[in-house]
Amino acid sequence: MKFLQRSMDAYVAEVDVEPGKTTIIFTLKEKAGALAETLKLFQALDVSLNHIESRPSKTHQGCYEILVECAPDVEPEKLEEVIALSRQKAHSPPLVKEWNAKQTKESVPWFPQKINDIDHFANRILSYGEELDSDHPGFTDKVYRERRKYFADIAYNYKHGDKIPRIEYTDKEIETWRTIYTELTKLYPAYGCKEFNYIFPLLQQNCGFGPDKVPQLQDVSDFLHECTGFILRPVAGLLSSRDFLAGLAFRVFHSTQYIRHHSAPKYTPEPDICHELLGHVPLFADPEFAQFSQEIGLASLGATDDTIEKLATLYWFTVEFGVCLQNGERKAYGAGLLSSFGELQYALSDKPEILPFEPSVTCETKYPITEYQPRYFLADSFVSAKNKLKAWAATIQRPFQVRYNAYTQKIEVLDKVSVLQRLARDIKSEMSTLEEALGKVRMISISQG
Ligand SMILES: [Fe+2]
Repeated sequence: MKFLQRSMDAYVAEVDVEPGKTTIIFTLKEKAGALAETLKLFQALDVSLNHIESRPSKTHQGCYEILVECAPDVEPEKLEEVIALSRQKAHSPPLVKEWNAKQTKESVPWFPQKINDIDHFANRILSYGEELDSDHPGFTDKVYRERRKYFADIAYNYKHGDKIPRIEYTDKEIETWRTIYTELTKLYPAYGCKEFNYIFPLLQQNCGFGPDKVPQLQDVSDFLHECTGFILRPVAGLLSSRDFLAGLAFRVFHSTQYIRHHSAPKYTPEPDICHELLGHVPLFADPEFAQFSQEIGLASLGATDDTIEKLATLYWFTVEFGVCLQNGERKAYGAGLLSSFGELQYALSDKPEILPFEPSVTCETKYPITEYQPRYFLADSFVSAKNKLKAWAATIQRPFQVRYNAYTQKIEVLDKVSVLQRLARDIKSEMSTLEEALGKVRMISISQG
């Protein structure tokens, strides 16, 4: 939707509506109160603004160009009313689009900037609930398909901040969970990485992990939040890579809540709650792994499609199918391995090819999705993997840098001096806390001899 209009003493140069983001650019004659008067239009229609910028117009002497960014949840009808009001007063040729290209980086794909923005895309799944492929084990099971719709509706109606509805799992579902849980927990001590095996008993103690009941997502989410700030959000099916990775930037993990079909407990063609809880959840409680996952998410914000594909490949070979070296032995940390009896043992045998984790190589590697991986990438540690990933991410062509502010739960785009100055102040304050703490620790060690 694009308009070219002039309004009052303001010229509406362009209105550009992207999913979740609306930017309007107009020009005002330089006179006292002109901006306030124009903004009253937005106020009168209850259109909230997130951001305003101004600069002297190069093409219209004595004018200022104003850019306003509307809140992502602005209703299209209200926006059209703003434009209609402007139209009534228009009486000159429109301005040429120029600023939008330079200042708002219009070529950058939209990305969420605050945690609630996830509500805008969390339901853009690639299939919905009971829509199963003909080769899905539950395809001909009407009861199972109805159950899948029930879970899909929960996810569809979920909004950030809601409590995740508690599920009364059926006996059949619990039996499926028990089979998988019992088999996998036998393998974890020998095949899982040490971080996984440290956290797993904590999940048993705090979140009801055990063979006899399926843990509730809300309990698990609360536990993760206390450990690393990660939270779970129910999702009805597969998201696009761009949307899924964007969630990680906010430490939000989209988790399915349904369970695979009981006829094939060892096989699932899609992620289910067994994969999420047994494969993914334990490591999201580890601070280094949580940070590594968030780095992938942050690198994805506003990235090109090509970069998204590379990041999704890195995610695949780490968070899903990663192996790492611990005390000279290969151990699994990828969720796809830790939730599959067969592939967990295969990945740590001498059958597959093992390559060192190097993001520039890993991100270009093709992989199958319906069979065991022919190759895995070995990380020295999560810290080393994170550092390599950060160094690689710094080479991504993106006209800005981003940072997550955990206090405001917003993404800060680091493209203005004022934002950088505030970041520098925060870092100085943290450094001074660190120096004071080091001084106190030193004093204690000296006094203890
Ligand atoms: Fe997964």
